[in-house]
Amino acid sequence: MFYDPKKIEVLLDEETLSKRIHELGAQITADYAENPDIILIAVLKGSYVFLADLARAIDLPLSIDFLGLSSYGSSTKSSGVVRMTQDLSKPIKDRDIVIVEDIVDTGLTMKYLLDNLQTRQPRSIKVASLLHKPARAQVEVPIDYVGFVIPDRFVIGYGLDFDQRLRNLPFIGVSVDGGPPYP
Ligand code: IMP
Ligand code: MG
Repeated sequence: MFYDPKKIEVLLDEETLSKRIHELGAQITADYAENPDIILIAVLKGSYVFLADLARAIDLPLSIDFLGLSSYGSSTKSSGVVRMTQDLSKPIKDRDIVIVEDIVDTGLTMKYLLDNLQTRQPRSIKVASLLHKPARAQVEVPIDYVGFVIPDRFVIGYGLDFDQRLRNLPFIGVSVDGGPPYP
């Protein structure tokens, strides 16, 4: 096994994630029924699993694009200094876009992204974040679709990494002793 189950506490199991993501998909479907053809913009790498499930829970024509962001700092603390590592493949001018993020923690990454994308003059921008950790907020950012509000703990799995590993855990969990929960 690629992880040690004794070292991981499950916070959100597969069924809980799936149920909530289907609710978010239904909400997005209803909100854009008049203006379909949205672009889901996923922030690499952490949101790739959420994107895959959310996109399939939306019953509308849509397209998908990716961008890469990385914040300098250690593996478990974000520094707030954000850098774009990969840009979108197409312009977003006059389009309705939904940013798909894994987690809004301090909010600094989302603030940077919203400021950057606004300059490209989309018709509208909304934010979908699977997780929100309000305890650590440093800047206010609007989140239109929130999956779960979670306590101030470093979470892993379902796209989120522990030192680049464990993105393939099918649930969201926490390392029980704070150390690497793999052999
Ligand atoms: P923020 O700029 O502090 O809001 O952090 C945003 C980014 O930090 C997220 O997109 C994640 O990639 C990463 N991050 C924040 N908290 C966690 C966590 O608990 N687990 C894994 N990654 C996290
Ligand atoms: Mg991220």
